[in-house]
Amino acid sequence: MPRRYEKATYTVHPLTPTSLIGPHHQNGTPSPHGRLHPRLPPPPAGLPTRPDNLSLLGQLRWGVAHPPLDPADPTSAFYRPGAFTERTVLVTGANTGLGFEAALKIAKMGCKTLILGVRSAEKGEATRRRIVDGGGAVEDVRVLVVEMGEFASVVTAVRELKEMVPGGLDVAVLCAGVAAPKFEVGKEGWETGVMVNVLATAVMGAGVLPLVKRDGGRLVFVNSNANDLVKREWFEGSLLQAVNSPKGWDGVRRYAMTKLTGLAVMKAVARAAGDGERVVVNAVCPGMCKTELGRNYSWYERLAMGLMRPLTSRTAEAGGRSLVTAAMLEKESHGKFWHNDVLYPMHELAEDEEFMKKTWREIAEIISKVPGVDLTGFEQ
Ligand SMILES: NC(=O)c1ccc[n+]([C@@H]2O[C@H](COP(=O)([O-])OP(=O)(O)OC[C@H]3O[C@@H](n4cnc5c(N)ncnc54)[C@H](OP(=O)(O)O)[C@@H]3O)[C@@H](O)[C@H]2O)c1
Repeated sequence: MPRRYEKATYTVHPLTPTSLIGPHHQNGTPSPHGRLHPRLPPPPAGLPTRPDNLSLLGQLRWGVAHPPLDPADPTSAFYRPGAFTERTVLVTGANTGLGFEAALKIAKMGCKTLILGVRSAEKGEATRRRIVDGGGAVEDVRVLVVEMGEFASVVTAVRELKEMVPGGLDVAVLCAGVAAPKFEVGKEGWETGVMVNVLATAVMGAGVLPLVKRDGGRLVFVNSNANDLVKREWFEGSLLQAVNSPKGWDGVRRYAMTKLTGLAVMKAVARAAGDGERVVVNAVCPGMCKTELGRNYSWYERLAMGLMRPLTSRTAEAGGRSLVTAAMLEKESHGKFWHNDVLYPMHELAEDEEFMKKTWREIAEIISKVPGVDLTGFEQ
């Protein structure tokens, strides 16, 4: 079955009352990328954007040739003046790669307070300097130390965040993530990718949700379209248990599986947030990008990836655009997946609500035992 873009109309929310300004594009012309501008009239039913029949390499090349629109570019259809004015924004994984680029872009767009979720105060200070030197027009940059390999650190970070922003957050972009090249079990007894991409992200998401303002707050989970690679036959029974198992370990497959599991987290947080009227929760994939994600792979694997990069990978800045746009989307994106400037169809297993809920219940059972984690309002 070819993948179809069921819902390709959407609005971009400037996070201010001026959001009610009219659509920028009403003429129905397709964008130069063959995608759809926001607020176009509904597209013809089943209109595909990226051709369905491309190989994986073809899809990656298409992604490089068609970078996302830049919400910071005044000529872009996604540009909304004042989108982040007076806003308080948290970005985790902010010291490098996509998180850094998204944080820099939001700073340049003029948010009021930017909170950098990083692993150490030193990294935070270095990132703060890079953001200010890079043209970030932000009044107040703060550092939130969070080690996603340790539950206690995430719980502490959430507590500190509460004290740091008593007025709440307007936007949270949860970007910290890993692609582990080999099976390693961390301090908490979970495989590194499961711990960081799924369990710690779940603790962070559940902890941050109550802090996100109820009048237009945004909570964005950085996911990956790699989840699309997952085949049902890769696992039996529990996805969470399978992704954590040393048996038949394969880095690429497991990364994809952590991201599919991560969608169960995003969906659970979206359900806990309500109908998207007041807080919007979504997931985003920036496409394959040149970042440090492959840093733990061997030198020859990194060399091979490096040689392929011009063909396969967007710049981190281009990928960061999608993270920022996802944080500006309206209710239509609630519980959905933003990729290549459209609300992208999710993996059939992610569309299987029972499967997603079952996966979330397994995650909730684990994180609910972590001291300081409060899952009030979440299905368990
Ligand atoms: N690059 C891509 O092609 C691509 C495509 C789709 C989705 N993504 C997703 O985008 C997100 C950002 O990745 P990236 O590509 O920008 O990679 P990156 O350059 O390696 O950045 C990853 C970020 O996550 C942080 N992080 C990793 N482990 C952590 C931990 N245990 N505790 C706290 N922070 C931790 C890193 O901090 P340190 O620097 O301190 O390790 C870094 O800030 C990830 O969720 C990734 O899955 C990436």
